[in-house]
Amino acid sequence: MSEMKRLFEPRSLAVIGASHNPEKIGHKILRNILSSGYEGRVYPVNPKGGEILGLKVYRNLEELRKEVGERELDLAIISVPAKLVRRVVEDCSKVEAGFLVIISSGFSEVGNVEEEREIVRIARENGMRVLGPNVFGIYSARAKLNATFGPSEIRPGKIAIVTQSGAIGIAMMGKISHEGLGVSAIVSVGNKADIDESDLLDYLGKQKETEVIFSYMEGVKEGEKLIKKLREVSRRKHVVVIKAGRSRRGAIAAASHTGSLAGSDEVFDAVMRQCGVLRAENIEEALDWCRFLVRAPLPRGEETLIVTNGGGLGVMATDACEKYGVKLYDDQLVLKNFSDLVPEFGSTKNPVDLTGNATPEHYRKALMKALEIDEISSVITIFSESALLPPKDIIEVIEEFEPTFLEKRKPIVFSMFGGAFAEEISEELSRKGVQVFNEVYRAVSSLGALYYRYRYLNRKEEGYAQLLKEDSIEEIRNIVKNALEEGRTFLLSTEAWKIMDILGIPRPEYGLARTLEEAISVSKEIGYPVALKVVSPQLMHKSDVGGVQLNIRNEEELKNAYQAVTTGVRIREPKAQVIGVEVCEMVPKGVETIVGSRRDPSFGPIVLFGLGGIYVEVMKDVSFRAFPISKREAMEMIGEIRSFPILLGVRGEKKKDIESISDAIIKIGEVVSRVPEISDFEINPLFVYGRGVKAVDVKIILSK
Ligand code: ACO
Repeated sequence: MSEMKRLFEPRSLAVIGASHNPEKIGHKILRNILSSGYEGRVYPVNPKGGEILGLKVYRNLEELRKEVGERELDLAIISVPAKLVRRVVEDCSKVEAGFLVIISSGFSEVGNVEEEREIVRIARENGMRVLGPNVFGIYSARAKLNATFGPSEIRPGKIAIVTQSGAIGIAMMGKISHEGLGVSAIVSVGNKADIDESDLLDYLGKQKETEVIFSYMEGVKEGEKLIKKLREVSRRKHVVVIKAGRSRRGAIAAASHTGSLAGSDEVFDAVMRQCGVLRAENIEEALDWCRFLVRAPLPRGEETLIVTNGGGLGVMATDACEKYGVKLYDDQLVLKNFSDLVPEFGSTKNPVDLTGNATPEHYRKALMKALEIDEISSVITIFSESALLPPKDIIEVIEEFEPTFLEKRKPIVFSMFGGAFAEEISEELSRKGVQVFNEVYRAVSSLGALYYRYRYLNRKEEGYAQLLKEDSIEEIRNIVKNALEEGRTFLLSTEAWKIMDILGIPRPEYGLARTLEEAISVSKEIGYPVALKVVSPQLMHKSDVGGVQLNIRNEEELKNAYQAVTTGVRIREPKAQVIGVEVCEMVPKGVETIVGSRRDPSFGPIVLFGLGGIYVEVMKDVSFRAFPISKREAMEMIGEIRSFPILLGVRGEKKKDIESISDAIIKIGEVVSRVPEISDFEINPLFVYGRGVKAVDVKIILSK
């Protein structure tokens, strides 16, 4: 078991700042600890001494050590004003505290970064770890410990909650206790000055009570560590995440909220998918999924049957299935297997429409049939309010069938639509732990979440692709080193072409000309039409300063173009040193794509693919992955963009060379991850043909 055991299963704890005043946070925490059934040693600490809630209060930790001989305190919960925290942390080393839970606000979230760092430094130097600061505490079902100032009634169960927002966390504790949902742990991570989600995932991922981990995040500090941990844990547990800060405004709000920067949302989204993590839109959706995932087994297949007594709701369920990636059981087989159960005017396609004439008996027969047919892997059952369906009978049907479905590993979801009728049923069943959704989309979204996990867990694990030898990387490092020594922050196009050659990515024919005569002779060699691009260590964006001329068809045009490029740059950027002009083959048009890699501030190296030109600029039709990736992931990235059919070949065109794109993605991802001096590497456009690709423009930016 990891060192986190002392945090989740402490044998002893002190509440420092335990107050005599019942209204204060330090008092509430102590009261929750005492009422939750915790069996370890509890020490309130307060300079005033005396007694709180029947316990002797120690004036300080020194007294605690001397009087009780406590030398191995597992947990110190600190609830004193920020300015007193440092002193308290220093004192905690006297009792060799393992973990400090710092409730106090007033640190990095309000700009007090230095003090926060100092506290963590003191703690770590003395072998202590810090949860927080700016947290509401920790609940651990295994230790029967509620060391929070949230609600006192919490039911033990299988969902672990890790939250960055204290307010949302406390509200969520209220909600789950109201709904009778069982939790294994609730941890508030606050400013994450030391312990972060990855540390907690490490413990929760191995804890047998926990089946689903739900994490509310605002920003990610150590993304690469998080990816590694999520990849490992999500093979064993379902992980549901809400990441606030999706919109630009939201991102700014999140950044000032807990003092951490929200990373780019698209990257976060891609990374979560890569790790098999479910990302919910909002808290209701997240809790729906959690509740369903702890109860439902993984199905054996993907074919879902819909049973309904309302045609309209059936159609909505079908739409929802498409939206959430739930596949339907074959219509023809429904016809064969269900026609004798459906009234004449009902539908024997999927959804099976039992019509408004449906009685509980109709549902029984349909569900019995669904149980018998092996190919049906899961069922969506919809009830619409009807005089023929008394609530008592519906409850009976659900209670009769749900356990059998789960036993046979056939997940089943229920949705009820109506007024008081529906509420009565869902309230009664939710008390017994059975979830009945009032909205068909919520039901299907939960089943979709399970199928997302089913697919992730069923994919064969594949090793990361590695296409480059160390020699090649070494050559690239040398080019980069040279550029850095010359004080440049980007590579010249001639250097970029050299790197393309090292990587084996085809590039245009080119030659460097220092005079017009040289340009004429290089053009003859390459063959018209050609392009001219000025080469200057000061100019990264050449076309912005008139440094590029395309489609030059003959010597006459070349002379004019040469003049235009050289004088244009001289006028607009008189300080730029012009090394020469690159004469470059005009590459035959292919499908314009963009392949890029960069070091994301949160997640480290990432790769990007998209269709170039307006597709990337206007449509933002791109896909991302954190690097490294497997060959299959590279192929999935390409298949994921909306304009993928263009690469498959439209209107009789040949399919494009997707394999070569995938190789290019992997290669440049490898360069960025193995040459840390490169911050951005982008081929835009990379022309793709029926066979092969060609890099038309390459930008390589170096870190300062
Ligand atoms: N050691 C032990 N106890 C001490 C010490 C010390 N060195 N110094 C003072 N105390 C005692 C005080 O005497 C007091 O006890 P008393 O009421 O019996 O006199 C107790 O500690 C608390 O100190 P106060 O000065 O009264 O501070 P108060 O309780 O008002 O506030 C708190 C402390 C809660 C830590 C506050 O400063 C704070 O940060 N509040 C915000 C907490 C928060 O929101 N956390 C974020 C997550 S949750 C969310 O966002 C909803």
